[in-house]
Amino acid sequence: MKKKLKSNFKKLITSLAKKENTPLFLISKSRLLEQVKKFHSLLPRVKPYYAMKANSHPFVLKTFINAQIGFDVASINEINTILKLGVNPDRLIFANTVKNPEALKFAARHKVTLMTFDSEYELNKITKYAPRSKVLIRIKVPNVGSIVELSLKFGAEPADAMSLLIKAYHLGLKPIGVSFHVGSQNTNIENYLASLETASIIFKDAKLKQLPLEILDIGGGFPIRYFDYEKDSFIPIASHINKELNRLFSSDVQIIAEPGRVLVGPACILVMKVVGKSIRGNKHWYYLDDGVYGSLSGIIFDHCKYHYKVLRKGIPQITTLAGPSCDSLDIISVSEDLPELEIGDLIYVENIGAYSWVTATNFNGIPPAKVLSIP
Ligand SMILES: Cc1ncc(COP(=O)(O)O)c(C=O)c1O
Repeated sequence: MKKKLKSNFKKLITSLAKKENTPLFLISKSRLLEQVKKFHSLLPRVKPYYAMKANSHPFVLKTFINAQIGFDVASINEINTILKLGVNPDRLIFANTVKNPEALKFAARHKVTLMTFDSEYELNKITKYAPRSKVLIRIKVPNVGSIVELSLKFGAEPADAMSLLIKAYHLGLKPIGVSFHVGSQNTNIENYLASLETASIIFKDAKLKQLPLEILDIGGGFPIRYFDYEKDSFIPIASHINKELNRLFSSDVQIIAEPGRVLVGPACILVMKVVGKSIRGNKHWYYLDDGVYGSLSGIIFDHCKYHYKVLRKGIPQITTLAGPSCDSLDIISVSEDLPELEIGDLIYVENIGAYSWVTATNFNGIPPAKVLSIP
């Protein structure tokens, strides 16, 4: 069965590459829906708000809108895009802790009232431009071992959380909860355990101070597999989170999350072609028609390593892969084990849906990969 699926998949990418040319960025609708289903089944108490920064292609957004999930938005453009697709503003959380005043005004005008903050300055800004908003304090939490560290830039010290929530109340805002982010592609369960414990202390404190909180936002960071040999660490992480949620938070607390990577990552495939070949330093170099200025921009922005696969069979040898631009930064990998390839051979990367095509540029006049939806 697995063999048949594999051969069907290879036939599909070969025929699409022939018909549409490369590079191609394929988005699978069934995989998007599978990931939503998996999230619901692994974290049944948690309501997902898809972090649309991970991949804002309309096909992805429409699929998630139909799957009835919420959206984490970070800018005027993201709010505008998702509202224009018919999403009710109460399905959104404005989860950028530092918001442009214009974006706050825009959010208020369009009734996007749920948002995060992490400083007194931000509270004053929210009060001025989006009064009476419902605010969640984002706290700084451990990001140990996460591929993308976020606590460097965001999050109030947990010890300051209560006084900031009280300040929000006195400013006429509605302090409604606590949020955190353990860092993206986080495989370290300890980050979640420590964050949940800290958040629960703030919940208890707030209750004692007659300011009961209603929402816990556990952010994003849920990991995916990039290499075939990796284990799916989302499964044990989710199981620990569930136990801790039930131990630390009463059933009337609403739990939400802002997953990006885990919902869209596994649903996309990048198909490229070898357009050049050389031998440099006793090693084969292959130049591909996409690179770090394109859909492989995650190598730079997302600190991501991908698994490169080919259709051709042969004895593997250490190989360098480079992108099509004139910049030597555009080297994809210097140590891939691949058989000898020829110009025109296909090379593909799975699980590349997040922080990839969305950050592609037009550098050197080379446009981003063509996006196609597949079943
Ligand atoms: C505020 C916020 N929420 C959610 C996300 C999504 O995180 P992930 O893709 O790791 O799930 C990010 C990613 O940077 C973020 O900054």
